Amino acid sequence: MRLNHIAIAVTDLAAAASRYRLLGAEVSEPQDFAEHGVSVVFVQLQNSKIELMKPLGDHSPIAKFLQKKPKGGIHHICLGVESVRTTAELLAKNNIRTLGDPRPGAHGKDVIFLHPDDIGGTLIELEDA
Ligand code: CO
Repeated sequence: MRLNHIAIAVTDLAAAASRYRLLGAEVSEPQDFAEHGVSVVFVQLQNSKIELMKPLGDHSPIAKFLQKKPKGGIHHICLGVESVRTTAELLAKNNIRTLGDPRPGAHGKDVIFLHPDDIGGTLIELEDA
């Protein structure tokens, strides 16, 4: 299992991106994911990546998070697994809830989110490796 990415919610994507460029990281241009309600830049690290996300549209899933944390903060971490669907079935049998069903994520691969209350108070995303 690998760390796929850490997602950080921010209010100002350009300002956040420039800070990571200052640190020497390679940062992508912003990409809009209307179906996920976020605009994202990818910070490429040697062994993983950071996704800086800003709300997009009126019903962004991260808008409420930023109301509580106006300076931004870690929103979720994403782990790469062999098969999201198989893992989701295994978790269900072990009473670990997921938020919805597997669906294509920002990279076109299946993703699913685990209920934070069932896994250490942290929003965990799983993505097909
Ligand atoms: Co993610």
